[in-house]
Amino acid sequence: MPASAAPSALSRRRLLQAGGASAAVIALGINAPDAVADPPQQAENLFGLGIASGAPRPDGAVLWTRLASEPLAEDGHGGIDPHPVSVRWQVAADAEFSQIIRHGQALAQPELAHAVHPRVEGLEPATEYFYRFLVGPRTSPVGRFRTLPADGAEVESFAVGVVSCQAWYHGNFTAHRHLAAEEELDLVVFAGDYIYEYGITEANLWRQGAEVTAAHAVETETLEQYRLRYCLFKTDPHLQALHARVPAVAVWDDHEVQNDYSGTGSSTGIPEDLFAHRIAVAYRAFYENMPLDVEALPDGPDTDITTGFDVGSLARFSLLDTRQFRDPEPVDEADWQDAQRTMLGAEQEAWISQRLESSPATWNVLASGVVLAAVSDDRVDMWDGYPAARRRLLESMGATSNPVVLSGDIHKHVAAEVRADYADPESATIGVELVCTSVASDGDGAKTDQYTEDWLRHEYVTHYDGRRGYLHVRLTPEEMVSSFHVVDWIEADDTAPKQLSVRYTTPVDDPGLIQA
Ligand SMILES: [Fe+2]
Repeated sequence: MPASAAPSALSRRRLLQAGGASAAVIALGINAPDAVADPPQQAENLFGLGIASGAPRPDGAVLWTRLASEPLAEDGHGGIDPHPVSVRWQVAADAEFSQIIRHGQALAQPELAHAVHPRVEGLEPATEYFYRFLVGPRTSPVGRFRTLPADGAEVESFAVGVVSCQAWYHGNFTAHRHLAAEEELDLVVFAGDYIYEYGITEANLWRQGAEVTAAHAVETETLEQYRLRYCLFKTDPHLQALHARVPAVAVWDDHEVQNDYSGTGSSTGIPEDLFAHRIAVAYRAFYENMPLDVEALPDGPDTDITTGFDVGSLARFSLLDTRQFRDPEPVDEADWQDAQRTMLGAEQEAWISQRLESSPATWNVLASGVVLAAVSDDRVDMWDGYPAARRRLLESMGATSNPVVLSGDIHKHVAAEVRADYADPESATIGVELVCTSVASDGDGAKTDQYTEDWLRHEYVTHYDGRRGYLHVRLTPEEMVSSFHVVDWIEADDTAPKQLSVRYTTPVDDPGLIQA
């Protein structure tokens, strides 16, 4: 990624923060004057893709929906006519909406696939709220979110679900079912591969009983195809339930665009100018389908999903973009070891080191689309391919308190100590990495498989499980409790019970993984 890309996204963020973009904000489905457009009359259900909240703050959150009466309409427009639609939203203190605290309107426009992203402000910190959308006489399901604690506040506990790699066609989202229904949750982190771009055919459709039309059989390349792909994945009721239950934040990995792409470079030799178009439409579809702040609205192939927030004085979260700004895979040893080689790009790297090194929080949580730990010299798509950049990040992590990395990508649960220098067996443990297995990618798995030894041969890797599942992390001022949950099957149906694969505690200021 040329260095010029990041400043354009970041300068747009500054412009928006300065309030210089109110017209743009209206046009983008953030806000709308009263009664701009009539609701579609014909449709029974306009909320076929569910609802969501995200971008939590102490005083509010972003609410999201994308209107769809026929989610699988092959043009990617969800069955909604190409006209603007007024969408009202309400936030209440109770699930019955007897006490509406905030309300407003947003304009769902065909240019953004009829998605709206209103930001609710002026709420109380650390408080639970309920929200819903209304279009004419139609009412959405009710969602809930909890605002973040006030800046600097003492926080007793903060619970986070972590999920990644939702290959819908490989099986049921049973992990989401358990996470949404059975866990204490303040937030869910999507750690990458929210969608997959691959064509869906008989060969990879392992979700029994599922059928898709020929429109899904091709790899996604156009805006309409990416939109349709989000529609397909978002029809899953357990994913919808998870979004309705708790605010979501997300980092992406490669499959939101193309397998193993790097920066501006395709992994399959697509010329850069054509691939820039594909990146632009893929990033745009990501924005349209996630509860993101307006800063994440792409400007062509450039966008800014790097973000962070504090949970009182308990935790600082930082969400990394490990795709958009990375250098291409190394061509030779010298290139691989080049000190200039970057994973995050110069601007994001400066941002994260500043955030870590100046953090007042007890816990410092990073979400990375790819695994940080040193695993194998063949894993050049992960941080292993960027050794100099990893050393710089480890240095910043060593200068902050209690760093924790949440990652995904590999479709396995892995727990690992973060070492100051992975190559030096004597080097200190400075934090922990919790790698979350896939929700569905690779279908039914087994606890051990052909990769188990690869991972467990490293002294700093303490656990490996090749089954599907999710991760639950509870942070308190005294300790972190990380629970790796699994399910035994996902292809046949969504009824598999959850099992605990392993649970660790990590005492504050004593990095490591103690089996609980
Ligand atoms: Fe994946």
